[in-house]
Amino acid sequence: MKPDNLIKTPEELTILAIESSCDETAVAVVKGGRKVLSGVVYSQIDLHVPYGGVVPEIASRSHIEKVDVTVQQAMKEASLQFADLDAIAVTAGPGLVGALLVGVSYAKGLAYALGKPLIAVNHIAGHISANYLAYPELEPPFLCLVVSGGHSHLIEVREDGYHLIGCTQDDAAGEAFDKAARVLGLPYPGGPNLDELAKLGDPYAYHLTQPKIAGAYDFSFSGIKTAFINLVHGMDQKGQAYKKEDLAAVFRHTVVTHLSDKTIKACLDKGWKALALAGGVSANSLLRATLKDLCEQHGIAFYLPPLRLTGDNAEMIGAAAHLQLMRGEVADLRLNANPGLALELRPQV
Ligand code: KG4
Ligand code: ZN
Repeated sequence: MKPDNLIKTPEELTILAIESSCDETAVAVVKGGRKVLSGVVYSQIDLHVPYGGVVPEIASRSHIEKVDVTVQQAMKEASLQFADLDAIAVTAGPGLVGALLVGVSYAKGLAYALGKPLIAVNHIAGHISANYLAYPELEPPFLCLVVSGGHSHLIEVREDGYHLIGCTQDDAAGEAFDKAARVLGLPYPGGPNLDELAKLGDPYAYHLTQPKIAGAYDFSFSGIKTAFINLVHGMDQKGQAYKKEDLAAVFRHTVVTHLSDKTIKACLDKGWKALALAGGVSANSLLRATLKDLCEQHGIAFYLPPLRLTGDNAEMIGAAAHLQLMRGEVADLRLNANPGLALELRPQV
């Protein structure tokens, strides 16, 4: 056995990561930033279903109940002792403040008790880093479309960090999917349910206009959302019959066309030959298929995380934390949850 005091290689560094920014208590153990030793997710979906959305107070309380057992389970599945860990990582933001606070407080306590470094991870950096787990050979630079419940960003991932080239001017893509699902009376979580229903419908049954916005690589979803609400309410008021499947298919098609057109335009204009997808909405089956086809047509390498890494998970936090540990970005015990934490951006190239 190797003595403890020998310096480890980057590939040997093992991080325990905690994610509690919204409605999932997730803990993972990640080795060398690319290898998942364990990943446990306790989903709160059942607790929020009766309310049709995430109730922050219920989320916080559930995180408190589950965080310790989830940590224990992740350690057990990784077959490790706490002493084997090299750092403790946690999502510090963005997210729900009470939910974040549970993970941050637990991680601070654990890091202090074990005398290990504490790493504060931005949730969006985590989503992007999920791709490093799925593709161990992937290295910057690449373009990444980040689409989640709170974000719709086109980000150039370069060796020196993140360069934003486009983002939503109003709602996030996930927010729009959730709203449209609610209009159709679909249960929470709206996005995945709308995606399933859309598979049964005709995407050309109705027409929703594509948004016109100034920024070549910016997005906008509020116009599509309003047009969709007006379409459904208009038919309801006139007593017109319609199939919810068709409406779901039309909405999904319109949003996916907007996202994929802008993303491929950015690839072609800027000469990107590698595109990655990240965030909860990257689970959308049409978005995955459409970007895959377009990337094939244009000779662009396409990276997309497996479904288990698209939603919130702690593996991605461990992967992002490893990069930060390599750069010496360690937090201290004054770390606080920051619900509006912005991704640190570099100037455009
Ligand atoms: O990344 P995520 O799990 O949480 C945030 O960081 O926000 O993303 C959640 C969002 C929700 O809006 C959810 O409805 C959406 O991702 N989502 C989907 C699908 N799966 C999750 N939207 C469309 N189609 C899906 N299959
Ligand atoms: Zn997320």
